[in-house]
Amino acid sequence: MNMHVSRMAPVRVPVVPIPEAARLLITRHPVTSFPVTKLDRSDMEHAWQGMKRFEEEVPPEEQLRYAIEAYRLGSGEKRGLNSDGIVRRNVTDRKVYLHWRPDTTTLLWVMRRIRLNHWQHEWFQACERIHSACLGAYRELVVEMDKIRPEYRLLDRLEAATHHGIHVLRVLYYPPRSGELADKHVDWSPFTLHAGESKHGLYGIESGNKVYYDTPEHPNVLSFAGEQLAKITSNDIPALYHGVEDMTDGSEPRWAIVFFGKMVHFEDLY
Ligand SMILES: [Fe+2]
Repeated sequence: MNMHVSRMAPVRVPVVPIPEAARLLITRHPVTSFPVTKLDRSDMEHAWQGMKRFEEEVPPEEQLRYAIEAYRLGSGEKRGLNSDGIVRRNVTDRKVYLHWRPDTTTLLWVMRRIRLNHWQHEWFQACERIHSACLGAYRELVVEMDKIRPEYRLLDRLEAATHHGIHVLRVLYYPPRSGELADKHVDWSPFTLHAGESKHGLYGIESGNKVYYDTPEHPNVLSFAGEQLAKITSNDIPALYHGVEDMTDGSEPRWAIVFFGKMVHFEDLY
């Protein structure tokens, strides 16, 4: 159906140093790109290969046991419940993803009595390093934003989220399918760092127009704001509506690696 739909060529978002990215975000630039210098290329490859191997080797009934719901104090997410572990979405957008957080291995054991095997352990270690690299860059970005608008108290909120272990690395795998892979939405998390993908397909709505973004070159990432940052800044920094489309006419799977930088929204708690 979508075979001959012509699309605008993807736009390459200019790569800037983190202090400049902070300034751009504060002046309502919808998407910025900056380097995450500690991001390791082989870890990125390892992260999505692990997701693929999980799909191929772990029996379907066993896979379901890897999805866990853990209460996350201060995450600000709806009902305070987040999906952890390995989650499968089947209804509107068919995808599988790992949500890696610092306590995922422990939670899998405590809640499910799952002990990771050797390759899963190595897979999670690669995810841990990507998480740590992204968190470092996210923190640098927020420090720079605080210099410009200290009243938002973004670093305090970020550190509280770090304390509660709620920043998430998401490793996504979409089985081959043509058309829309993720419907247009805004992310809840204050910041999204789109760190890697097999092919472009991510788009944003900028001034009412659909803009496709080119895949950032390693170790650059694309970053944009979510609903929570809009709320903290009284919409001075609006959330970006975005979605994902297949660009392969349904012939290839898609994988992507995304870091959701969290903040505690104290105003919701007290
Ligand atoms: Fe999203």
